Amino acid sequence: MTEPVLRLEGIVKTFPGVRALDDVSFTVMPGEVHALMGENGAGKSTLMKVLGGIHQPNEGHIYMGDDEVVMAGPLEAKAKGIVFIHQELSLAEELSVAENIYLGELPRKSFGRVDWTTLAEKTNAILKKLNVGFNAHTRVGSLSIANQQMVEIARALTVDAKAVIFDEPTASLTDAEKVVLFDVISDPAMSRTTRWGISRSKCVA
Ligand SMILES: Nc1ncnc2c1ncn2[C@@H]1O[C@H](COP(=O)(O)OP(=O)(O)OP(=O)(O)O)[C@@H](O)[C@H]1O
Ligand SMILES: [Mg+2]
Repeated sequence: MTEPVLRLEGIVKTFPGVRALDDVSFTVMPGEVHALMGENGAGKSTLMKVLGGIHQPNEGHIYMGDDEVVMAGPLEAKAKGIVFIHQELSLAEELSVAENIYLGELPRKSFGRVDWTTLAEKTNAILKKLNVGFNAHTRVGSLSIANQQMVEIARALTVDAKAVIFDEPTASLTDAEKVVLFDVISDPAMSRTTRWGISRSKCVA
């Protein structure tokens, strides 16, 4: 039987004066795409932040496969394969697409020199899958918001992502750009991993 990628059980998260999450349980199977919908303040971002290690739950459990996991911080969540694409993009505008995708993990040659050829090849291979109209050398600051989001997605694809979380991914996209994003999310060739769209109802296809 196929195991869930992720299972949340009885998650409770309170902030002073607010019970943002009240006993939330949720299971994600491999390859599934989920859209989490709710009015402003419903707790969507809070739930994603609990998963992404940004908030610690007051109660409840998170499982990956058979194992209970604790997402002690964002880096730990990432190491476990939870990739979080925030609404506010976190790219270095002055750097190239390739440098942004592999920031902190640039391929090196002897004496620690960056292996630019390998970097460009690896990046262009990923960009080809996403079918985008820019390349490894393009400066990120010159890209549209939609294309910057594609860079974030490309970065997610370089790690062994088990789940990719988008927080309101369509908020700053045009209608045409939304179609491209949804195509990427629903492309079976891309969904070796599970993806979650999270958005308000107006954003959902
Ligand atoms: N860091 C925080 N400190 C205190 N309260 C918070 C914090 N983050 C969220 N909240 C509160 O928790 C509740 C859930 O907020 P959350 O941001 O998760 O909602 P949301 O569903 O993502 O809403 P939106 O559609 O506006 O993005 C709200 O009442 C919010 O004010
Ligand atoms: Mg939110």
